[in-house]
Amino acid sequence: MTFKEMLENRESCRAYSDRPVSRDDLMKLVEAGRLTPSGCNAQPWKFIVVDDPEAKKHLCDALVVKDGATGAPFREQVPAYIILVEQPAKVKPMVLDHYGDSQRFAQGDIGMAALNMCYQALELGLSTCILGMNDQQKMEQYFGIPHGSEVRCILAVGYSAKTEPPRKKIRKPLEEVCSFNHW
Ligand SMILES: Cc1cc2nc3c(=O)[nH]c(=O)nc-3n(C[C@H](O)[C@H](O)[C@H](O)COP(=O)(O)O)c2cc1C
Repeated sequence: MTFKEMLENRESCRAYSDRPVSRDDLMKLVEAGRLTPSGCNAQPWKFIVVDDPEAKKHLCDALVVKDGATGAPFREQVPAYIILVEQPAKVKPMVLDHYGDSQRFAQGDIGMAALNMCYQALELGLSTCILGMNDQQKMEQYFGIPHGSEVRCILAVGYSAKTEPPRKKIRKPLEEVCSFNHW
């Protein structure tokens, strides 16, 4: 697949078959995350792979936030998940001097790791959906995540149950999002 084809073929999957994902493949996704670039090479992440049925039950519960809201109504079908947790970033002193915030780049770094994992999944014939919403308190309780280590996103991973070709991308027009040399 060319890179353009990968851009066109990756899509958020919201319907999964019951085919399990091998640990070998899950570890390839983690490796894609681990090799992701990050500000000051701080690598401000930890990846928690969830494929055990009991742990998955807990995760599905934590994907429902207050008042029953969830970004993942399809959560029970997903065979495996990878939780991306933000970690303290050790950045260069000049970054800290300038921004006064060592976590300035961390969310961007984690976003890039998530996307690298999505593309690695695509190469393996797997489908993914990045999930942004979760109940932090439940995540800490169920997975032993230290208080204050924010879960930034959760990657749903599995084999798609979809038979149709990838959806057409809905994106803002190029003119709206790009300009040359000036705003
Ligand atoms: C940070 C982030 C959080 C997201 N959270 C959810 C979510 O909770 N539920 C969901 O179905 N999709 C979620 N998505 C997927 C987006 O809705 C999706 O990427 C966007 O609509 C573009 O569609 P595509 O991924 O199929 O190209 C999330 C994506 C990102 C990057």
